[in-house]
Amino acid sequence: MNFANELVLWYHQNKRDLPWRHTTDPYVIWLSEIILQQTRVEQGMPYFNRFLAAYPNVTAFANASEDDILKLWQGLGYYSRGRNMLKTAQLVRDEHKGVFPSAYDELIKLKGVGEYTAAAISSFAVNEARAVVDGNVYRVLARYFGIDEPINSTKGKKLFQQLADAVLNKEEPGLHNQAMMEFGATLCKPKNPACGICPVSLGCQAFKTNATTQLPVKLKT
Ligand code: ADE
Repeated sequence: MNFANELVLWYHQNKRDLPWRHTTDPYVIWLSEIILQQTRVEQGMPYFNRFLAAYPNVTAFANASEDDILKLWQGLGYYSRGRNMLKTAQLVRDEHKGVFPSAYDELIKLKGVGEYTAAAISSFAVNEARAVVDGNVYRVLARYFGIDEPINSTKGKKLFQQLADAVLNKEEPGLHNQAMMEFGATLCKPKNPACGICPVSLGCQAFKTNATTQLPVKLKT
């Protein structure tokens, strides 16, 4: 079995039960992904639940005041995220008839939505074949394929995106992306990766050469 299929199998057996994994509503996925951008899962979860309870759909969100949003955002930091979300929700209400986009090319136009978030929403919501590349994915790919190209160089970013696209399971891109991220977050961790219980350690270049702690490489900026 190949690397990506092993990870999906692992994911089925080991995934955390997270609330945003029970939906294909692009609005709800957007809410979770923006909250999780600079925030850990455990910290973000109560915020996600409160936002969803207060604003069950994008129109409800759009009709909130900035004060309301920032009050609920209190404690999460990076308040521009909350402000951008309100602008985006208003745009979806006013220009998309309140229907949150699910296609990558529409999502990428929204304020606060970059390549990672557009790939996450489009793959999780409608299984668009877009590979997510976040810190977890950089780490997993760098280690498994033994790539020491810096993840924050122009060449490195291109290389990792190409690799992520190449290994993407095109039948189940949403599942594949969740599996890659979960594997990076909970097993192939930055420090003390759990190589002893890793289902793909035998094929992992970093494991074979004892280089897990050296990968991925990041240039100091
Ligand atoms: N971090 C960012 N997005 C996530 C997701 N969908 N599941 C778990 N952790 C995440």
